[in-house]
Amino acid sequence: MFDSGFGGLTVARALIDLLPDEDLVYFGDTGRYPYGPRPLDEVREFAREITQYLIDTHNVKMVVVACNNASAAALEILRFEHDVPIVGVIDPGVRALLAATRNRRVGVIATVGTVASGAYQRAVTATRAPVHLQCSACPGFVEFVERGETDSENVHVLAERLLAPVREARVDALLLGCTHYPFLAHTIGDVMGRDVVLVSSADETAFEVRSILTETGLGRRSGRGDGKGKHTFVSSGDVGWFKRLGGQLLGPEVESVESHQWD
Ligand code: DGL
Repeated sequence: MFDSGFGGLTVARALIDLLPDEDLVYFGDTGRYPYGPRPLDEVREFAREITQYLIDTHNVKMVVVACNNASAAALEILRFEHDVPIVGVIDPGVRALLAATRNRRVGVIATVGTVASGAYQRAVTATRAPVHLQCSACPGFVEFVERGETDSENVHVLAERLLAPVREARVDALLLGCTHYPFLAHTIGDVMGRDVVLVSSADETAFEVRSILTETGLGRRSGRGDGKGKHTFVSSGDVGWFKRLGGQLLGPEVESVESHQWD
């Protein structure tokens, strides 16, 4: 699985908890984050490069695009180019969002790139669910998480400003449409108020991975079942920082971090 940086660790946590026997390779492209402000074409090329690397170097049997921005930019082409199953986070997120709303007014917050791509607007429309959708970009949130600043006064002030449109839209369910955002759930929850359910795509994505592994017979044979899948972390940026902050955000699984430099 991969993300621009630490965000995909929210999905990694859900996967490791649900499928503890599976080996996992996590690639954090911290050398090139953030993806949000970049043109979609550029993010698509990054996603293609990382997917090829995961398949060639780590011989993975499935790829989880644990990044909304990369899912919006590249899911289709990755599925076209590779034989292994490719799972994104957008459709699982939409399913979880629609299951959570009662008043049928839903919100999605995401990076500038994801919102501008229209991927969420299309995914919600495709379900034909009779909901009102408010999408809002939250530039700056990802950078706070990457710096390890998840609960400061500064991030709170920014959240007050950026979340105003989804508050005004009176949504009762808000999808954190960037995998970094669950790390800001405390702040986002404070600003939105307790009547709004915060939805993350992590669990639903992990369920989708489990279904595909079962349906395709690719799942780790029961028999081992010792809950000791191997977890490998690779970063294109500062590996010392990845180990420190990654360990804090994910947990003890981040024992060591390998470096991968792009040419
Ligand atoms: N975690 C990525 C996502 O879900 C954030 C992208 C970024 O680096 O801006 O969209």
